[in-house]
Amino acid sequence: MKETDLPHSSILHHITGKSVYVNDIPMPDNGLYALPFISEKAHANIVSVNCYQARKLKGVVAILSFQDIPGENQMGPVINDEFCLAENKVEFIGQAIALIAAETKEIALQAAKLIEIEYEELPAIINVRQAMNNGELLSDARKIERGNIEKSLQESVHTFEGEFYSNGQEHWYLETQSTLCIPQEGKEIKIYCSTQHPSETQAIVAQVLGLPRHLLEVEVKRLGGAFGGKETQANHIAVWTALLAQYTGQAVKMHLSREMDQLITGKRHAFLSEYKVGFDSKGKINALDVILNAEGGAALDLSMAIVARAMFHIDNAYYIPHLKVLGKAWKTHQPPNTAFRGFGAPQAVAVIENIIDKIARFLKKDALEIRQRNFYSLENNTTHYGQKIEQNPMSNMLDDILESSKYIQRKKEIGAFNKDSHWIKKGIALVPVKFGISFTLAFLNQAGALVNIYQDGSVIVNHGGIEMGQGLHTKIKQIAALTLGVKAECIIISPTNTSKIPNTSATAASSGTDLNGKAVENACLILKDRLAKVFKEKYGKENENLIFENGMVSSDEYNISFKKLCSLAYTQQISLSSTGYYRTPNLYFDKKKGQGKPFHYFTYGFAVSEVEIDIFTGKHKLLRTDILHDVGESINATLDIGQIEGAFVQGLGWVTTEELKYDTGGRLLTISPDTYKIPCIDDIPLDFRVELSHHSSQENNIKKSKAVGEPPFIHALSVWLAIKEAISAVAHHKKEPELSIPATQEAILLSIEKIKKPARTDLSASP
Ligand code: MTE
Ligand code: HPA
Ligand code: MOS
Repeated sequence: MKETDLPHSSILHHITGKSVYVNDIPMPDNGLYALPFISEKAHANIVSVNCYQARKLKGVVAILSFQDIPGENQMGPVINDEFCLAENKVEFIGQAIALIAAETKEIALQAAKLIEIEYEELPAIINVRQAMNNGELLSDARKIERGNIEKSLQESVHTFEGEFYSNGQEHWYLETQSTLCIPQEGKEIKIYCSTQHPSETQAIVAQVLGLPRHLLEVEVKRLGGAFGGKETQANHIAVWTALLAQYTGQAVKMHLSREMDQLITGKRHAFLSEYKVGFDSKGKINALDVILNAEGGAALDLSMAIVARAMFHIDNAYYIPHLKVLGKAWKTHQPPNTAFRGFGAPQAVAVIENIIDKIARFLKKDALEIRQRNFYSLENNTTHYGQKIEQNPMSNMLDDILESSKYIQRKKEIGAFNKDSHWIKKGIALVPVKFGISFTLAFLNQAGALVNIYQDGSVIVNHGGIEMGQGLHTKIKQIAALTLGVKAECIIISPTNTSKIPNTSATAASSGTDLNGKAVENACLILKDRLAKVFKEKYGKENENLIFENGMVSSDEYNISFKKLCSLAYTQQISLSSTGYYRTPNLYFDKKKGQGKPFHYFTYGFAVSEVEIDIFTGKHKLLRTDILHDVGESINATLDIGQIEGAFVQGLGWVTTEELKYDTGGRLLTISPDTYKIPCIDDIPLDFRVELSHHSSQENNIKKSKAVGEPPFIHALSVWLAIKEAISAVAHHKKEPELSIPATQEAILLSIEKIKKPARTDLSASP
């Protein structure tokens, strides 16, 4: 830990239970509790809805339907394809049909039971494969292509084709979706919402309520986790709550139960990818032809942006000369799937890493050798979408992780162990990660700040980013303290508020610190400049360089405390308040050509995981994980390591225990922690070693650091590949195991059973 590393600024409040979330804000006296009345059918016409009995229930204050919407009945974040309240048709289980406000939560729940609804059921599409057969896309397919795919496949020595499936994932933020709306004077409404994107929440509430945005003030103190699940879908809860508040003129709160939250909100996209790959006898990949098929859900949400990021990450860390990738988001009758840590990249990296693994097994070589043969290098350093990789620390990082993890030695030892051990098999795998940082829609890469200094030298920093546990406010505080040369305790970070910083982007794409940090730095530099002028007027010497450090401002001869200089500035009628702004330079992308520079830079990492599996039960144990991860020059190493550990463990859930299961009618069955298994203390590696790499420094980014939030999620694929390697050991590495994501205990057992069966063609490769 560096001396400058602050502990997470909410840590004491978190551990003493004092941190305030939406549900902790005291309800005004006449506050009402709200609930959506939702569809129980995946696809149906609504024949009739009868609220007569529900309305009669004592304590019910309002029940609204789409007919009560004063503005537009739309809440899609990108296009208007999502009804706020269903009109005459429902397209997924969990779609809101009516809104209930009552004096207590219990009354609202009771009222929901009294609403009578008659459906006419229609055929429902409830998974991506059915959707592909059905043929309805949510938006036009996208394509990126380099080289000549047909010819290069024909000319390849070996070719494979196959399919790869990865399941979706529930966000499982600890704080479920929640909003409290308090009507103010006139038509104004104050909205406390657990959202990653207050400006969009404001915009969509305005659209639905038929109000200009300036009447709506959205404020966010912190979120109890989000992971992408509150980038767009917090808007729904906000809009529903705001409609009821506007209608009743009373404060209204909606705080979803865990089951309701899991049932009605969108998740990580399941992907069913189809590929053809061509390679030579050394394992050098020459051609890759892939279609990434995402399970979109009933409306577009962010699906095409997610598919685009998947397309940008199908190469992972490898130079593939001939590459064609198509991205498709398929319509199903499920809640619209949405952003989730990694934003499509993990799904794509899984495809290419599984291909590499398969090639290695086919050629009877170590997968590491195949990976090394295909890495981007000094000569081969342009991605399939035309972005040049400027700095690439991968070869140094690989040396380091091989040294620290002893991968090669352990792989040999595991080989020897597996020879003698019949019931327990071990596997080890190494996975690289390269991740592009920036919103892929270039204009979103902007941020604003407002820094106010009081006469006593204390500072309040406002910025557009959201604290969701990742430590953004702590990093921002450090940036402001370093820039102004004051102690961190002189600074507080204000709750994020649309009245202070307008038109912000979501805190997403891992770029919260990059964007808001730069905007805050910009505001601080403006203020510093003003203070320097005051100093120079007092002491003379126009061109001298001043040092702002430890709460003092000094020249060669003079010094004055920051506090005194601030109060002097005030008496000299100098403003101590400044906005700041930042936009990432030089980003562009031509969608038609599929070429450009979508990312400001890349971050990198490696993970090595070792597992053992019990071939009778399919149970696995994660023995050890080593991660080496690149965050440039870390702003706060403790927070960065926490993010890497957290992302890895969240990824671990995705690749092993978390399984979304639906019944034949499309109803999600796994809607509580007893059936949906997120990782627990037992699941983390027995030996867990996380290191920050020291091989890169991102000169053009805030304090030379790099973003950290999402990329380390992908390291969990090392566990999945290690499990696959252990299964493969059951058949002495002569057959390709059949395994998709997640590798649950059942899936592992089934895969073992299949691989044990004799007399099957070994691999589906053609010479
Ligand atoms: N860490 C915590 N504790 N809680 C979260 O909700 N979200 C992740 C990541 N780390 C998240 C988290 C996701 S999906 C993103 S995009 C980034 O944090 C967003 O914050 P940042 O841009 O400040 O890193
Ligand atoms: N990443 C995360 N969230 C986003 C993006 C992205 O690239 N684009 C829009 N929302
Ligand atoms: Mo993160 S999925 O970009 O909110």
